[in-house]
Amino acid sequence: MSDRDFLSIDDLSRDELQSLLEEAAAVKADPRAWADRLRDRQVALIFEKASTRTRVSFEVAVTSMGGHAVVLRGDELQLGRGETLEDTGRVLSRYVDAIVVRTFGQDRLERLADAASVPVINGLSDFAHPCQCLADLQTLREKKGELRGLSLAYVGDGNNVAHSLMFGGTKLGMDVRLACPTGYEPFPQVVERSVELAAESGGRLTITDDVERAVAGADVLYTDVWVSMGQEEGDRRRTFAPYQVGPAMIDLAGDDVIVMHCLPAHRGEEITADAIDGPRSVVWDQAENRLHSQKALLAWLLEQ
Ligand code: CP
Repeated sequence: MSDRDFLSIDDLSRDELQSLLEEAAAVKADPRAWADRLRDRQVALIFEKASTRTRVSFEVAVTSMGGHAVVLRGDELQLGRGETLEDTGRVLSRYVDAIVVRTFGQDRLERLADAASVPVINGLSDFAHPCQCLADLQTLREKKGELRGLSLAYVGDGNNVAHSLMFGGTKLGMDVRLACPTGYEPFPQVVERSVELAAESGGRLTITDDVERAVAGADVLYTDVWVSMGQEEGDRRRTFAPYQVGPAMIDLAGDDVIVMHCLPAHRGEEITADAIDGPRSVVWDQAENRLHSQKALLAWLLEQ
């Protein structure tokens, strides 16, 4: 078996990403047809940070396709007592067919993936959240149809979720616009690569601190928490206050704008209650699609 990893959306070619999104739609339409796809397969899920959606959707995805999930917290592994990531990757590869990891630095994922001989999936790192992006793109296809030319305004911290949306959106020809406060822009290497992807696909990328510039006429409004796990330093709430998604921002966007959030949400901070709970919101479909898209991902990776 190959050990094709999924550490970033940019690990997939454009064709692979499109094909995976088609598979995710097929899983959702007929989940019973996928009930045996992971029969006798074992998947380890390691969480070094808290999780609701990733933890539950991966475990349910594995078991509902006939496989078995072993869910572990980082501090209950010998990893928490100094065993190396490399040794952990080598040993787990002797027991399981894939490893899903939620951790801090991308380097931790890369070290584990380099040593493992089975696929390693990024269940969120400080750099990227590719599984969330798959579910987001699946949701956009459901709500908006063709993704090419679709304008998505991401408002807030240029973080892991923003990085993955930049890669995925520009790869598929979208008009991706980020409004981030100064000092909270996406990583330069992500900007550079997304510019390349946009040039190849006919997409666009805009990075600004001007909310109006990013949001005007947008088809999609997307936000994430202002204080991500492990980033509790500084007075982020004051800095991010002008970037709250609420009724005025929705009015500034396109007439048929939809509102997205990867969750968990903090109502009254990055998004108002009437925005996340209102008629424009598609956040519950996004959360549901974590399950379907991850089923498609696991089946694809384990059949390489
Ligand atoms: N969106 C997301 O990854 O949710 P969890 O942190 O609950 O897994």
